[in-house]
Amino acid sequence: MTRISVLFVCPQVLTSKMPPHCSTLLLLCVAQLLSPSSALPFEQKGFWDFALDTMDSGGMMSMMRDMEEGSAIDDITPTSPPYMPMCPFGCLCQLRIVQCSDLGLTEVPKDIPPDTKFLDLQNNRITELKENDFKGLSNLYALSVRNNLISKVHPRAFAPLKHMQKLYFSKNLMTTIPKNLPASLVELRIHENLIKKVAAGTFSGLGNMNCIEMGANPIQNSGFEPGAFKGLKLNYLRISEAKLTGVPKDLPENLRELHLDHNQIQALELEDLSRYKNLNRLGLGFNHIRNIEKGSLSYVSMLRELHLDNNRLTRIPQGLPTMKYLQVVYLHSNNISQVGVDDFCQRGFGMKRTFYNGISLFDNPVNYWEVQPATFRCVSNRYAIQFGNYKK
Ligand SMILES: *[C@@H]1O[C@H](CO)[C@@H](O)[C@H](O)[C@H]1NC(C)=O
Repeated sequence: MTRISVLFVCPQVLTSKMPPHCSTLLLLCVAQLLSPSSALPFEQKGFWDFALDTMDSGGMMSMMRDMEEGSAIDDITPTSPPYMPMCPFGCLCQLRIVQCSDLGLTEVPKDIPPDTKFLDLQNNRITELKENDFKGLSNLYALSVRNNLISKVHPRAFAPLKHMQKLYFSKNLMTTIPKNLPASLVELRIHENLIKKVAAGTFSGLGNMNCIEMGANPIQNSGFEPGAFKGLKLNYLRISEAKLTGVPKDLPENLRELHLDHNQIQALELEDLSRYKNLNRLGLGFNHIRNIEKGSLSYVSMLRELHLDNNRLTRIPQGLPTMKYLQVVYLHSNNISQVGVDDFCQRGFGMKRTFYNGISLFDNPVNYWEVQPATFRCVSNRYAIQFGNYKK
């Protein structure tokens, strides 16, 4: 019985296009050969020679030669279970990576090996993550469900994933960030969903995270419930391409990077940045900012890089000369018509610890020949200034 199935299944696999994961199927065939009911000795020499020639893995080849010669087979007692590597049908399982992308799956497959470190379910048609979908996967480090149709996650779906650090959830249909994310999570990418709300307590119990990317979601300022990020320490947050009209006031404290480009932010008000004293990089390009209230930049004195390009500023923001570490300022494509001699640098020997190495001012209605060279006295070299002509 088993031999017949071997003869029918395996050659078919081997003579068809040989997808890269057919070694798994081949092992399955070997397992069937070794099953207790199969009669010995083997007779399909020609087939095995063909199989060995097409195999690319040396280890596998020698293993199979052993089997062919009978040395391994002798050890098999009738009670030992057949060797059957666990791998969901159609997936490729190798080095604790389970690769199930682009298979048209409508749900998370069963039989994922419990030692899996990375589970790739990208580019399928999964609609939902159910309670037991990840049961037993306590070793999982990263999960990608990117580009599916997921709109629903069971509140306990992630409960078994005690060591998961990375979750890639971009390009799905979620309207809110999934609840009960594993406490071990370090990176969450949930770009391009339909998120309108981040509920209070979404990140409670997470402690420290490195990165949350949640751009291209239709979220407004009112979508962040008070306490949405309560208890979370986070390095990097990106909420670009959303529907923000101001800098959200309740984001995690201690952020080092905040990217809010491509929103509809109209102004920076005095207290807007007061919570984010550790910011190194702030991205506010491609907004509608006309006004930066005097003193609002004084809270972010650690800033190294500030992007304000493609806004509607009519003057250089106040407060730049006292920012000790500021090195890069993008101000291009605004409506700035004049640049004062003290707009960037302090008089005399100021507090500046590092010179600027990038200032962009092109695409502004400023007559650059009217700008005094001394304006850039605290710039590392003249190539650091991108001025250009005003063209509109
Ligand atoms: C640019 O600023 C001037 C005033 O300095 C204003 O009259 C004009 O409308 C502004 N243009 C844009 C596109 O905002």
